[in-house]
Amino acid sequence: MDDFDDGEPSFVRAVDWALTTTRSVRRKLDWERPVPRQLIEACIDVAVQAPTGANREAWRFLVLDAPEPKARLAALYQRAMARYAAARPGDDGPKPTARGLADRLAELPALILVCSEGEPFEDSNAMRVAFYGSVLPAAWSLMVALRARGIGGTWTTLHLVHEDEAASALGIPPGVTQTVLLPIGFMAGARLRPAARRPAREVTYWNRWGAADD
Ligand SMILES: Cc1cc2nc3c(=O)[nH]c(=O)nc-3n(C[C@H](O)[C@H](O)[C@H](O)COP(=O)(O)O)c2cc1C
Repeated sequence: MDDFDDGEPSFVRAVDWALTTTRSVRRKLDWERPVPRQLIEACIDVAVQAPTGANREAWRFLVLDAPEPKARLAALYQRAMARYAAARPGDDGPKPTARGLADRLAELPALILVCSEGEPFEDSNAMRVAFYGSVLPAAWSLMVALRARGIGGTWTTLHLVHEDEAASALGIPPGVTQTVLLPIGFMAGARLRPAARRPAREVTYWNRWGAADD
Protein backbone atom coordinates (compact mmCIF):
# COMPACT_ATOMS: atom_id res chain seq x y z
CA MET A 1 0.00 0.00 0.00
CA ASP A 2 2.95 2.35 -0.36
CA ASP A 3 2.06 3.28 -3.95
CA PHE A 4 -0.04 6.14 -2.59
CA ASP A 5 0.77 8.85 -0.12
CA ASP A 6 -2.02 10.15 2.08
CA GLY A 7 -3.59 13.24 0.60
CA GLU A 8 -1.87 12.89 -2.75
CA PRO A 9 -4.33 14.17 -5.39
CA SER A 10 -4.24 11.01 -7.51
CA PHE A 11 -4.95 8.90 -4.42
CA VAL A 12 -7.90 11.09 -3.42
CA ARG A 13 -9.23 11.00 -6.98
CA ALA A 14 -8.94 7.23 -7.19
CA VAL A 15 -10.74 6.69 -3.89
CA ASP A 16 -13.51 9.17 -4.72
CA TRP A 17 -13.90 7.64 -8.18
CA ALA A 18 -14.35 4.15 -6.75
CA LEU A 19 -16.72 5.29 -4.02
CA THR A 20 -18.92 7.40 -6.27
CA THR A 21 -19.17 4.99 -9.19
CA THR A 22 -19.86 1.74 -7.38
CA ARG A 23 -23.44 1.32 -8.54
CA SER A 24 -25.91 -1.50 -8.88
CA VAL A 25 -25.10 -3.34 -12.09
CA ARG A 26 -27.89 -5.74 -12.99
CA ARG A 27 -27.91 -5.99 -16.78
CA LYS A 28 -24.66 -4.90 -18.35
CA LEU A 29 -22.72 -7.90 -17.22
CA ASP A 30 -20.84 -10.62 -19.01
CA TRP A 31 -22.98 -13.62 -18.16
CA GLU A 32 -20.57 -16.11 -19.68
CA ARG A 33 -17.16 -15.05 -18.38
CA PRO A 34 -16.23 -16.70 -15.10
CA VAL A 35 -14.83 -14.54 -12.34
CA PRO A 36 -11.64 -16.28 -11.15
CA ARG A 37 -11.71 -17.42 -7.55
CA GLN A 38 -8.30 -15.84 -7.03
CA LEU A 39 -9.71 -12.44 -8.00
CA ILE A 40 -12.65 -12.84 -5.63
CA GLU A 41 -10.28 -13.81 -2.83
CA ALA A 42 -8.06 -10.81 -3.57
CA CYS A 43 -11.12 -8.56 -3.19
CA ILE A 44 -12.12 -10.30 0.04
CA ASP A 45 -8.61 -9.66 1.34
CA VAL A 46 -9.26 -5.96 0.72
CA ALA A 47 -12.74 -6.14 2.23
CA VAL A 48 -11.59 -7.63 5.52
CA GLN A 49 -9.61 -4.49 6.22
CA ALA A 50 -12.97 -2.94 7.19
CA PRO A 51 -13.67 -2.13 10.83
CA THR A 52 -14.80 -5.02 13.02
CA GLY A 53 -16.23 -4.63 16.52
CA ALA A 54 -13.83 -5.84 19.22
CA ASN A 55 -11.60 -7.04 16.38
CA ARG A 56 -13.75 -10.18 16.12
CA GLU A 57 -13.58 -10.65 12.35
CA ALA A 58 -16.86 -12.54 12.48
CA TRP A 59 -17.48 -12.07 8.73
CA ARG A 60 -17.70 -15.13 6.52
CA PHE A 61 -18.08 -15.12 2.75
CA LEU A 62 -19.98 -17.93 1.11
CA VAL A 63 -19.21 -17.78 -2.61
CA LEU A 64 -21.45 -19.78 -4.91
CA ASP A 65 -19.92 -20.46 -8.32
CA ALA A 66 -21.32 -23.93 -8.99
CA PRO A 67 -24.63 -24.34 -10.86
CA GLU A 68 -26.57 -26.23 -8.20
CA PRO A 69 -26.14 -23.96 -5.18
CA LYS A 70 -26.62 -20.91 -7.39
CA ALA A 71 -29.89 -22.35 -8.69
CA ARG A 72 -31.12 -23.13 -5.18
CA LEU A 73 -30.49 -19.63 -3.91
CA ALA A 74 -31.83 -18.06 -7.10
CA ALA A 75 -35.10 -19.97 -6.66
CA LEU A 76 -35.51 -18.51 -3.16
CA TYR A 77 -34.62 -15.05 -4.44
CA GLN A 78 -37.21 -15.35 -7.21
CA ARG A 79 -39.87 -16.42 -4.75
CA ALA A 80 -39.07 -13.41 -2.57
CA MET A 81 -39.15 -11.14 -5.62
CA ALA A 82 -42.58 -12.47 -6.64
CA ARG A 83 -43.91 -11.81 -3.16
CA TYR A 84 -42.42 -8.33 -3.10
CA ALA A 85 -43.86 -7.53 -6.54
CA ALA A 86 -47.30 -8.83 -5.57
CA ALA A 87 -47.32 -6.64 -2.47
CA ARG A 88 -46.42 -3.52 -4.49
CA PRO A 89 -48.22 -3.50 -7.81
CA GLY A 90 -47.54 -0.67 -10.24
CA ASP A 91 -44.78 1.92 -10.12
CA ASP A 92 -44.08 1.29 -6.47
CA GLY A 93 -42.90 -2.23 -7.17
CA PRO A 94 -39.57 -3.57 -8.37
CA LYS A 95 -38.10 -1.99 -11.49
CA PRO A 96 -37.77 -4.13 -14.64
CA THR A 97 -34.00 -4.31 -14.11
CA ALA A 98 -34.49 -5.69 -10.60
CA ARG A 99 -36.95 -8.30 -11.91
CA GLY A 100 -34.54 -9.10 -14.73
CA LEU A 101 -31.74 -9.72 -12.26
CA ALA A 102 -33.99 -12.05 -10.27
CA ASP A 103 -34.91 -14.00 -13.42
CA ARG A 104 -31.27 -14.53 -14.40
CA LEU A 105 -29.63 -14.72 -10.99
CA ALA A 106 -28.48 -18.33 -11.36
CA GLU A 107 -26.75 -17.51 -14.65
CA LEU A 108 -24.33 -15.08 -13.06
CA PRO A 109 -20.76 -16.30 -12.60
CA ALA A 110 -20.86 -15.96 -8.81
CA LEU A 111 -23.17 -15.10 -5.94
CA ILE A 112 -21.41 -13.90 -2.80
CA LEU A 113 -23.37 -14.28 0.41
CA VAL A 114 -21.85 -12.19 3.18
CA CYS A 115 -22.50 -13.74 6.58
CA SER A 116 -21.52 -13.15 10.17
CA GLU A 117 -20.88 -15.66 12.89
CA GLY A 118 -23.34 -14.95 15.70
CA GLU A 119 -26.76 -13.33 15.83
CA PRO A 120 -27.90 -9.77 16.42
CA PHE A 121 -29.34 -8.97 19.85
CA GLU A 122 -33.01 -8.21 19.38
CA ASP A 123 -33.48 -5.88 22.32
CA SER A 124 -30.48 -3.58 22.07
CA ASN A 125 -29.97 -1.06 19.31
CA ALA A 126 -26.37 -0.60 20.40
CA MET A 127 -25.69 -4.31 20.01
CA ARG A 128 -27.54 -4.54 16.70
CA VAL A 129 -25.56 -1.62 15.33
CA ALA A 130 -22.35 -3.26 16.55
CA PHE A 131 -23.34 -6.58 15.00
CA TYR A 132 -24.26 -5.33 11.54
CA GLY A 133 -21.64 -2.60 11.69
CA SER A 134 -19.04 -5.33 11.99
CA VAL A 135 -19.97 -7.00 8.73
CA LEU A 136 -21.70 -4.58 6.34
CA PRO A 137 -18.72 -2.22 5.93
CA ALA A 138 -16.72 -5.23 4.70
CA ALA A 139 -19.52 -6.11 2.26
CA TRP A 140 -19.44 -2.58 0.86
CA SER A 141 -15.63 -2.62 0.64
CA LEU A 142 -15.97 -5.86 -1.29
CA MET A 143 -18.32 -4.24 -3.81
CA VAL A 144 -15.92 -1.33 -4.24
CA ALA A 145 -12.87 -3.59 -4.60
CA LEU A 146 -14.71 -5.67 -7.21
CA ARG A 147 -15.84 -2.55 -9.04
CA ALA A 148 -12.24 -1.29 -9.21
CA ARG A 149 -11.37 -4.52 -11.02
CA GLY A 150 -14.18 -4.24 -13.55
CA ILE A 151 -16.59 -6.54 -11.74
CA GLY A 152 -20.12 -5.28 -11.18
CA GLY A 153 -22.68 -6.39 -8.65
CA THR A 154 -25.76 -5.39 -6.73
CA TRP A 155 -26.37 -5.05 -3.02
CA THR A 156 -29.36 -7.35 -2.48
CA THR A 157 -31.30 -8.51 0.55
CA LEU A 158 -34.46 -10.02 -0.92
CA HIS A 159 -33.53 -13.66 -0.39
CA LEU A 160 -33.35 -13.04 3.38
CA VAL A 161 -37.13 -13.42 3.50
CA HIS A 162 -36.25 -17.10 3.09
CA GLU A 163 -33.10 -17.05 5.19
CA ASP A 164 -33.82 -20.34 6.95
CA GLU A 165 -34.40 -22.18 3.70
CA ALA A 166 -31.23 -20.65 2.27
CA ALA A 167 -29.35 -21.87 5.34
CA SER A 168 -30.52 -25.45 4.87
CA ALA A 169 -29.90 -25.36 1.13
CA LEU A 170 -26.33 -24.14 1.60
CA GLY A 171 -25.32 -25.89 4.81
CA ILE A 172 -25.12 -22.69 6.86
CA PRO A 173 -25.18 -23.74 10.52
CA PRO A 174 -27.43 -22.27 13.22
CA GLY A 175 -25.88 -19.23 14.85
CA VAL A 176 -24.66 -17.77 11.56
CA THR A 177 -26.50 -14.69 10.27
CA GLN A 178 -26.83 -14.01 6.58
CA THR A 179 -26.61 -10.42 5.39
CA VAL A 180 -26.28 -9.16 1.84
CA LEU A 181 -26.09 -11.22 -1.30
CA LEU A 182 -23.86 -9.80 -4.04
CA PRO A 183 -24.54 -11.32 -7.47
CA ILE A 184 -21.46 -10.47 -9.54
CA GLY A 185 -19.97 -10.63 -13.00
CA PHE A 186 -17.52 -8.77 -15.19
CA MET A 187 -19.09 -5.59 -16.47
CA ALA A 188 -19.94 -5.40 -20.16
CA GLY A 189 -20.68 -1.91 -21.38
CA ALA A 190 -21.84 -0.55 -18.01
CA ARG A 191 -21.17 3.17 -17.73
CA LEU A 192 -21.05 4.01 -14.09
CA ARG A 193 -21.46 7.58 -12.93
CA PRO A 194 -22.12 9.26 -9.61
CA ALA A 195 -25.84 9.09 -8.76
CA ALA A 196 -28.06 12.12 -8.26
CA ARG A 197 -28.19 12.36 -4.49
CA ARG A 198 -29.19 15.10 -2.09
CA PRO A 199 -26.11 17.14 -1.26
CA ALA A 200 -24.39 17.20 2.13
CA ARG A 201 -25.94 20.57 2.96
CA GLU A 202 -29.43 19.05 2.86
CA VAL A 203 -28.68 16.01 4.96
CA THR A 204 -26.17 17.38 7.48
CA TYR A 205 -26.84 19.25 10.70
CA TRP A 206 -24.32 21.07 12.81
CA ASN A 207 -24.24 20.92 16.61
CA ARG A 208 -28.00 20.52 16.96
CA TRP A 209 -30.50 18.31 15.12
CA GLY A 210 -32.05 20.31 12.30
CA ALA A 211 -29.49 23.12 12.39
CA ALA A 212 -27.95 24.05 9.04
CA ASP A 213 -24.48 25.49 8.57
CA ASP A 214 -25.01 29.30 8.48
C1 LIG B 1 -30.57 -2.36 2.16
C2 LIG B 1 -30.62 -2.51 0.66
C3 LIG B 1 -31.28 -3.58 0.12
C4 LIG B 1 -31.34 -3.76 -1.26
N1 LIG B 1 -31.95 -4.88 -1.76
C5 LIG B 1 -31.97 -5.07 -3.11
C6 LIG B 1 -32.49 -6.28 -3.64
O1 LIG B 1 -32.89 -7.20 -2.92
N2 LIG B 1 -32.50 -6.43 -4.98
C7 LIG B 1 -32.01 -5.47 -5.83
O2 LIG B 1 -32.06 -5.67 -7.06
N3 LIG B 1 -31.48 -4.33 -5.35
C8 LIG B 1 -31.43 -4.11 -4.02
N4 LIG B 1 -30.83 -2.98 -3.51
C9 LIG B 1 -30.19 -2.03 -4.43
C10 LIG B 1 -30.92 -0.69 -4.50
O3 LIG B 1 -32.09 -0.84 -5.24
C11 LIG B 1 -29.95 0.33 -5.13
O4 LIG B 1 -28.83 0.49 -4.30
C12 LIG B 1 -30.62 1.68 -5.34
O5 LIG B 1 -31.59 1.57 -6.33
C13 LIG B 1 -29.61 2.75 -5.75
O6 LIG B 1 -28.92 2.42 -6.93
P1 LIG B 1 -27.33 2.35 -6.94
O7 LIG B 1 -26.93 1.16 -6.12
O8 LIG B 1 -26.94 2.22 -8.37
O9 LIG B 1 -26.83 3.62 -6.33
C14 LIG B 1 -30.75 -2.80 -2.13
C15 LIG B 1 -30.04 -1.73 -1.57
C16 LIG B 1 -29.96 -1.60 -0.20
C17 LIG B 1 -29.16 -0.45 0.38
